[in-house]
Amino acid sequence: MTASFSLSIKSSALTILAGVLLGILAPTFSEAGQRGAKGTGESRPDALYHNYCSVCHGDRGDGRSRAQNSLKPPPRDFTNAGELTREAMITITTHGKPGTAMVGWKTQLNEAEIAGVVDYIRKTFMIVALDPKLQRGKTIYAQNCIACHGARGQGSPMPIGGSVPARDLASPQARAELTRERMITAVTTGRPGTAMAGFGGRLPAGDIDAVVDYVRAALMVPQTEISGTDAHAGRAAAQRPGSSKSAAATGADMMQPMPNGLKGDAAAGGRFYMANCATCHGAKGDGKGPRAYFINPKPRNFIDPTFTSSFNRPAIYAATSVGRLGTEMPAWNKVLNDREIANVSEFVFQRFVLPAQKTAKK
Ligand code: HEC
Ligand code: HEC
Ligand code: HEC
Repeated sequence: MTASFSLSIKSSALTILAGVLLGILAPTFSEAGQRGAKGTGESRPDALYHNYCSVCHGDRGDGRSRAQNSLKPPPRDFTNAGELTREAMITITTHGKPGTAMVGWKTQLNEAEIAGVVDYIRKTFMIVALDPKLQRGKTIYAQNCIACHGARGQGSPMPIGGSVPARDLASPQARAELTRERMITAVTTGRPGTAMAGFGGRLPAGDIDAVVDYVRAALMVPQTEISGTDAHAGRAAAQRPGSSKSAAATGADMMQPMPNGLKGDAAAGGRFYMANCATCHGAKGDGKGPRAYFINPKPRNFIDPTFTSSFNRPAIYAATSVGRLGTEMPAWNKVLNDREIANVSEFVFQRFVLPAQKTAKK
């Protein structure tokens, strides 16, 4: 997936964002005259959501974020906000909601970007809330299916009232295998030899359609790709180049080039870093970006000796590509191509690691 991000958060905007996130926002914010550069409208709406909104509204749009407990009122849970019109959402995203932590984004996002992110929220998180049939399906699911299949369709590891456990309806395999027709048949007639009884005698056909459509729309969806603690296919925390098997410990060459003959463009990487990484890792690389406040474990400090003595180009490239499972470090290979990852990695290396290497040699 090649994405040319054009999120340009300038440091002034980052400062503003920091103020917003820490809740020390002055009411005159929008008149402050500090305008970050607006995007071009080509930014991907999902990336915008996960960069600007998820920190408060949550990776699943349900308002569950670390900001949730510190804000009054808390950020809106979009999954049950069926009454919100697209127009109202665009107005609030543009101008903010007075008396709440929701500020207007018009200084940072242009009209197309605001409409894009609102449409992303509506089709990703509000799809059930906006459709009465799916709402009905949700109720039926809660009454008849949740005990065995779980609130998120994840199933149960243990069989309940049978020898076969309820399957994980959200798994990639189930998503590939279960057609709508097969599901309607399974729910109507049951699965012989398992606890999955037929609902044909208990639910009218319309309700069976509704519950199957609900499961398909709300539960059988891939998880968000861009950020979030368990939302990406990162490496397990055990394998970290920075700790046990650091380059220093293994005697690896700190000046090793990028893998696969790639050459990073540090200038292009720097622009991407300021727009997408600085929010967590900080413009200075010290791990103190505005989002860091809400994140545990904290984003890596790139100027700390444990980093500058062990992360060479290939290690930074690998870490950036696959993310860190169990942390909020996204797997960037979901959105960037090899060259783009090499660019941002080259920037991190040249800006933060190389100076420390030079000082160490003296
Ligand atoms: C600093 C935390 C924070 C961030 C970041 C944030 N919001 Fe909000 N948002 C809130 C709060 C708090 C509310 C008010 C909830 C309420 O009034 O009940 C809100 C309300 C809203 C509403 C209106 C909901 C309603 O019921 O009126 C919309 C739409 C919205 N946000 C969209 C966004 C979008 C889009 C972004 C990203 C561009 C975003 N928000 C970023 C905290 C945040
Ligand atoms: C008593 C526990 C139980 C309840 C209640 C239950 N299921 Fe199941 N369900 C199962 C089990 C066990 C399986 C696995 C059967 C198998 O692997 O063949 C299953 C399988 C399924 C499948 C996959 C069938 C296939 O072809 O592989 C679907 C779809 C499904 N259930 C939907 C539902 C829906 C919708 C409801 C509510 C209307 C529901 N289930 C209620 C236990 C249950
Ligand atoms: C949402 C916050 C967030 C964003 C955005 C983010 N990171 Fe991270 N990053 C983290 C966290 C959290 C860690 C893990 C720290 C730990 O495990 O101690 C991390 C770790 C890292 C590491 C070290 C990996 C390791 O094994 O410790 C590198 C390199 C890195 N990030 C690069 C980047 C780059 C490059 C970008 C932008 C393309 C980026 N990060 C964007 C939060 C973020």
